[in-house]
Amino acid sequence: MCGIVGYIGTKKACPILIDGLMRLEYRGYDSAGISTLEDNYISNMKNVGRVKNLYDLDGINNLNGTIGIAHTRWATHGKPSKENSHPHMDNSKMFSVVHNGIIENYQELKLFLEKAGYSFLSQTDTETIPNLIHYYYSKDTNNDDKRFLRAVSSACKDLNGSYAIEVICKDYPDLMIVARKDSPLVIGSGINENYIASDIPAILSYTKNFYLLDDNEIVELYKNKINFYDINLSKIDKDLKSIDWDAALSEKNGYEDYMLKEIFEQAHTVRETIGSRLVANTPVNFDDINLSKDYLESINQIYLVACGTAMHAGLAVKPLIEKLCKIPVTVDIASEFRYRNPLIDNKTLCIYISQSGETADTLAALKLAKTCGAKTIAISNVIGSSITREADFTVYTHAGPEIAVASTKAYTSQVTILSLLALYFGEVLGISSKDEIEDIKNELLLLPEKIQTVLENIEDIKEFAKKVYTEKDIFFLGRGVDYTVSLEASLKLKEISYIHSEAYAAGELKHGPIALIENGITVVGIITDHNLVSKSVSNIQEVITRGAKTLIITNQDLENKNYDMVINIPKTNPFISPILSVIPLQLFAYYISKEKGLDVDKPRNLAKSVTVE
Ligand code: AGP
Ligand code: GLU
Repeated sequence: MCGIVGYIGTKKACPILIDGLMRLEYRGYDSAGISTLEDNYISNMKNVGRVKNLYDLDGINNLNGTIGIAHTRWATHGKPSKENSHPHMDNSKMFSVVHNGIIENYQELKLFLEKAGYSFLSQTDTETIPNLIHYYYSKDTNNDDKRFLRAVSSACKDLNGSYAIEVICKDYPDLMIVARKDSPLVIGSGINENYIASDIPAILSYTKNFYLLDDNEIVELYKNKINFYDINLSKIDKDLKSIDWDAALSEKNGYEDYMLKEIFEQAHTVRETIGSRLVANTPVNFDDINLSKDYLESINQIYLVACGTAMHAGLAVKPLIEKLCKIPVTVDIASEFRYRNPLIDNKTLCIYISQSGETADTLAALKLAKTCGAKTIAISNVIGSSITREADFTVYTHAGPEIAVASTKAYTSQVTILSLLALYFGEVLGISSKDEIEDIKNELLLLPEKIQTVLENIEDIKEFAKKVYTEKDIFFLGRGVDYTVSLEASLKLKEISYIHSEAYAAGELKHGPIALIENGITVVGIITDHNLVSKSVSNIQEVITRGAKTLIITNQDLENKNYDMVINIPKTNPFISPILSVIPLQLFAYYISKEKGLDVDKPRNLAKSVTVE
């Protein structure tokens, strides 16, 4: 969660660090801080609240050091406060450390350090790290150029849990040490300068060349040299990767918020996701996965594992995979899957979906499946992210950087890529109707155009949002894939408008939830599957009878049955209709949030990448 930025070079570090932190703001945080080093002195400045509050600190503009570390904190141990903010220093103020993650054995380490004479100023788990580094440093009598590195590596060996850390040391003004385990960190390489960040967009305007750190790696970073080591300090080689994302893609491009920009990018991003995988009249191309017919015939179940919106993308595509492959699909929440002792073996194919590729639960669930002998596929939007490095195969969604905490374009790209994957499996297995496959393929190719149509007709949804933004509860109903979209629409609304909302399978309503329907309540109905129209319409009538105001999202020709607002979207194959029907509902959540005057891109308590459990 939260973020780390680092700089070492010839320029003043402070503005670069604060700029980087601002670009990471979307990840969610409660406080921020920086340390820079000059004239053998480490300056440490931090503040609660927004990154821009750092500019209120006395002396911040006088920090001239050309080496520095910076952090936005999403508190896990100790409340958000100045003392608990990072960077944290050891008692002698020799080392300064920023840390993302959780040190699970911090109490044990704290006790050990207290016995050795160290004291603690914060309630954080992190403060053990600089003191532990100092402990090893002071025990090391060999005062060579590797003493700092050895101390960090010894400390890392004692840490259980997850960490991405940056460390600077008063005695080494030209060197920064960074390390990671189960928490993201990338190194951006420039000429006579190097950058560190939790993710690529934060430093994309400075460089397009990156090293992606793996777990248990530790790095010596000079301005003109980078040395990579494993945790035992054996040197390792790493490849420099060029990332072709345009820095402008991480900017707002004239939109009021990232979320709105990302919603409006979806015609383009879905086209990018389809890319060259689908060309009319040719089999779907997944050369990068290359699973044989024999293998696909040998598996007896498929798991789709993810969190939040990514999990909803899995739910949306489960029916299509089952239809085309005749293999049962289980969609599981990663945090449940990993502790469930799931029944998986080498006859299970596990697909992990994660926009960021860094979600701790999804990553752990993937590692678990590997130990059970299952084959794994990662679906991610971020090149080189952790899940892509763990999985047997990786498929990228190519939706470009998603900055808003509420995921929108990542969802439509995930549903698109999973639908393509279903078609690919279906074609390899050759057991389902060619006409059905062709119809879905043709409809997928038409999606960008149809998405554009949806985006050009937003006035009604805006108007309905204005009518209901003061509501306390909003319900979403649908059947089949429309139910899966209800879940996503409800999550979106909760996240950015703070309105309580529930999604129900429309047929389930009368088994309890209908007790909540009272005069004036808002109910959103999604009706896109022609096979289920009459059933869904009846369920909506049941709530209208009980006084509900209704918003209907549909591609069917419905007679007017006293709906308050009907949003018509283009027809498509029902299996892929979530890619269209979700869009008005993303906008619904967006406009409600705007009406309420909330910060759409950075909703309270949420983080973009949930890299802790
Ligand atoms: C989406 O709006 C949410 N912020 C959240 O549910 C998100 O989808 C979830 O945390 C998974 O993230 P990931 O795709 O990066 O793994
Ligand atoms: N566990 C640390 C703390 O609470 C780091 C949290 C973070 O990743 O920001 O301070």
